[in-house]
Amino acid sequence: MNIRDIAKLAGVSVSTVSKVMNGKDKDISEKTKQKVLKVVEEEQYVPYLKYREKEGLKSHVIGLVIKKDNREGEQIIRSCQRAAAEEGYGLLIQFADNLDEIQKCVNDMIRKKVAGLLLDSKKLINTRKLEDATVYLNQTKEFDERQKATFYYRLSEAGRMAAERLMREGHEKIACITLADERTIQDGYRMAMREANLAVQPLWVYEGKNLEEIEQYGIQQCLGENVSAVICGSQEIAGCFYKTLERLQISLPDSISMISIGDGKWMEILGDGITAVRLPAQEMSREAVISLVKMIQGEKQIEVMRKFSPSIIERGSVNGSPKEKEGERIVVVGSMNMDITIEVSRIPLKGETQLAERVYTFPGGKGGNQAVGAGKLGGRVYMIGCVGNDIDGKQLYSNLMENHVHMDGVLLNPSVASGKAYINVDQDGESTIVVYQGANRLLSIEQINRCRYLFQNAKYCLLSLEIPEMIAEYTIKFCRRNNVEVILKPSAVEKIKEELLKDIAYFIPNENELNTFIPGRMSLEEKAQILREKGVENVIVTLGERGCYLRNQEYSMYFEGTGFEAVDTTGGADSFISALAVYLSEGMDLIRAIGFAVYASGISVTRYGVQPALPDRKALEIYKDEIYSRYQI
Ligand code: RIB
Repeated sequence: MNIRDIAKLAGVSVSTVSKVMNGKDKDISEKTKQKVLKVVEEEQYVPYLKYREKEGLKSHVIGLVIKKDNREGEQIIRSCQRAAAEEGYGLLIQFADNLDEIQKCVNDMIRKKVAGLLLDSKKLINTRKLEDATVYLNQTKEFDERQKATFYYRLSEAGRMAAERLMREGHEKIACITLADERTIQDGYRMAMREANLAVQPLWVYEGKNLEEIEQYGIQQCLGENVSAVICGSQEIAGCFYKTLERLQISLPDSISMISIGDGKWMEILGDGITAVRLPAQEMSREAVISLVKMIQGEKQIEVMRKFSPSIIERGSVNGSPKEKEGERIVVVGSMNMDITIEVSRIPLKGETQLAERVYTFPGGKGGNQAVGAGKLGGRVYMIGCVGNDIDGKQLYSNLMENHVHMDGVLLNPSVASGKAYINVDQDGESTIVVYQGANRLLSIEQINRCRYLFQNAKYCLLSLEIPEMIAEYTIKFCRRNNVEVILKPSAVEKIKEELLKDIAYFIPNENELNTFIPGRMSLEEKAQILREKGVENVIVTLGERGCYLRNQEYSMYFEGTGFEAVDTTGGADSFISALAVYLSEGMDLIRAIGFAVYASGISVTRYGVQPALPDRKALEIYKDEIYSRYQI
């Protein structure tokens, strides 16, 4: 800003400005002089400082130093500007990154002779003669007690309010996602949970370095935990969360409730509006300016420390917690493969070359499918397995996580590619599969042992055999020691020793697998009975479109199929097993649970691929009445 700019702004000539500045203003009217002085003061025109000193005038400018990353920076600046103008003051704003920079800005402002200071700092700043004309603004109570005047609100209080608001609706599984430097929000959330005697699981809380990290990992981690509500540490996090829910077609607030810490236009627009904790930055700034002006004008300030409280803005993102049937824990030990599904007119014969009609890539693998199936149905499911640290592995991992599978037991191994399955599907939906085990082969005894805590209090272990035989056998013994019931899907890839059959609670082969296990010309019922005699508690043979057959101590019973038209039968048994496990884990009797399993399998084969085709609870329970009336004993 130079003399020409000042002249232009004041609408006078350069020589008029010069005369006013140098006190040679006898021939200039008082009105013009005041007009010039107003502009030079507002613009902090440097020669004006000398003029003011000479005239013994007090400055009418307040300095505001604000941290660049202050989340409410915009609100604070706007509110300070408005309040200062109302009080007849101009505002000189400077931004700082750290303590050193704040001090530099303050020194500069003192040089410019500001009348008072508003400082965004927890630490005491040397403001020299302006000590009695300095007000600090804070977002925490943890500021230097030597600060004489401090206006503050607490982010921890906002976290606490959000948690309490959700708890009032009956939520107990509440996640909290914040940026790492806003940990105080989590402190408030934890305090509220502790007071309500609710445990906070480690994976319910996520602290991200930045928004990208939160979007990539934090949101999925919390969704994978099956929480019923989430506190988003900022509007930006709430926006990312909302976007993810939309992509996954998870309905807000029916399936999950959400509260944002911080309010703004976006929170009004998204969906039916996002309920938010409004931070009192505006009131705080306004009151700070008014107090500062009083201090500048020599009025004694009694109230030097003032706390402001956040408030809840109710909108449409909070609902009562869905009264879920909390099932018992299900652990899945098995394969995760990327499925390359090839649609052909018929399964190729030996030596034949065929043209594919279409090719799809879907996340699959028997273990992964069973885990996703259980997750979609609301089961408490924990996966143990290995994928490669490659694109396929990452996709498999995130697909499981997005479907509410706990992933603590999954390793991403950089030395081998992820497992793959090459699947031919013919016009009738029948399929053949060639599996490349890849990283699935790396599942080790150490990994199972490391996941010991997942088996504690688990009710079922879903085991499939695309992992090393030795690991499957070890898992069966491990389950016996931990009182976990094994639900085993045999497959042609690996075998298990006959002596282990006595430790299998549910043995679920298809007809081919049954015949491989018990070769010979006996009937299906007889073969199932042989398995029973070898110690299996329940034998369930899946029969594709014909339903299934159950053999146990009480029953020898067929369950008819659904009659749904199949386009791809791949993974029908995985869908069956996951539904069976979830309903059993919720305490349902075996006959009804098999009924739900038959329908889950029937629905899944009406679509291509496995994991995308697995039904969620809503899709399956449309058939609830039909299932109950059809499979009565
Ligand atoms: O049961 C179906 C699964 O078997 C496929 O997803 C494929 O990956 C193979 O493991």
